[in-house]
Amino acid sequence: MEDYITIALPKGKLFQRSVDLLAKVGYSADNVTESSRKLVITNEAKKLRFIITKTVDLPTYVEYGAADIGIIGKDVLLEARKDVYELLDLGFGKCRLMLAVPENARRPQLEDYAHLRVATKYPHCAKAYFDKLGIQTEIIKLNGSIELGPLIGLSELIVDIVETGRTLKENKLVEVDSVFTATARLIANRVSFKLKYDRLHKLVTDLERVLKEEEEK
Ligand code: PRP
Repeated sequence: MEDYITIALPKGKLFQRSVDLLAKVGYSADNVTESSRKLVITNEAKKLRFIITKTVDLPTYVEYGAADIGIIGKDVLLEARKDVYELLDLGFGKCRLMLAVPENARRPQLEDYAHLRVATKYPHCAKAYFDKLGIQTEIIKLNGSIELGPLIGLSELIVDIVETGRTLKENKLVEVDSVFTATARLIANRVSFKLKYDRLHKLVTDLERVLKEEEEK
């Protein structure tokens, strides 16, 4: 597989834009769709292989070199703490990791939330955030539907991603602080980046050009 480039694509919100963007620089294959039952899709002519993974697993595929490159949100990347190269900020998929509470449980200061329970999909990021503030909390790791935590008394707080704000609103939660903002990133395996430097370097410059052209439109 040495002369192939293997690209990991994340299922979910970043999937379609990632496929469309890569196609603009010639990185495409037939039937790269999220609903594809085929987990590995190859373009023999261009020596490309696409794999479609769960978002949380994507950095692992790249760290171990099972994929040479991948596209993933900075939020997932920070939480995963994998040893990969971050090659490019792709700008799309903008979202925020934030601390939220039920509307009727707002407190005057951040310190007032000390010793409470926090439900999150991002335990490392949440811990780093509270440690920096010197606030002690109990962090409860969940894998989805984080907003459910305060609704049923599992936690008093949540640290979760906000994109449009709809989920917060529907569950009567309010943001009290922003942890960080995140966008999609192109990442690479460290060894692949050296061994396949010419093709990957060209990919980065081509993507930069396309993003710039799109911005100027
Ligand atoms: C994310 C996040 C929020 C929602 C925010 O969940 O955890 O629940 O999106 O988006 P909004 O501000 O546009 O409403 P996702 O859809 O990834 O599913 P999950 O809750 O199962 O993790």
